[in-house]
Amino acid sequence: MNIDIGISQAHREDIAKGLSHLLADTYTLYLKTHNFHWNVTGPMFQTLHLMFETQYTELALAVDVIAERIRSLGFPAPGTYKQYAAMSSIKEQEGIPQAQEMIKLLVEGQEAVVRTARSLYPSVEAASDEATADLLTQRIQLHEKTAWMLRSLLE
Ligand SMILES: [Fe+2]
Repeated sequence: MNIDIGISQAHREDIAKGLSHLLADTYTLYLKTHNFHWNVTGPMFQTLHLMFETQYTELALAVDVIAERIRSLGFPAPGTYKQYAAMSSIKEQEGIPQAQEMIKLLVEGQEAVVRTARSLYPSVEAASDEATADLLTQRIQLHEKTAWMLRSLLE
């Protein structure tokens, strides 16, 4: 059945493509954060182990919201590591970094997601897609706050 929500096919496709990049970034950051939750060591273990758990739990919920927005716009949501690796602006981590380096890598990851989310606004605004704009605003707010919290540990 045709979708008739007042956003053209071309606009929906453009927004869905942008959201797919946001999904790839968010999933990659989710896995990186969970990885660091498992493998962090050192005197800050307890703090970081728990902080990373809070963060990956939030990210796991976020990927579902983003994927379902793509579906609502009428396009398939990417769901394989191959697609995510091809689309994500966040690099996967080789080996196990020291705790301080983990924090720095997660700040960079959080900031990368913010940039990807922000880059979608022109497409979203051109289509008056307020629902996606709202989603982006919520994601940006959350990631900027998390980046600040992680950054604060490095000062
Ligand atoms: Fe755990």
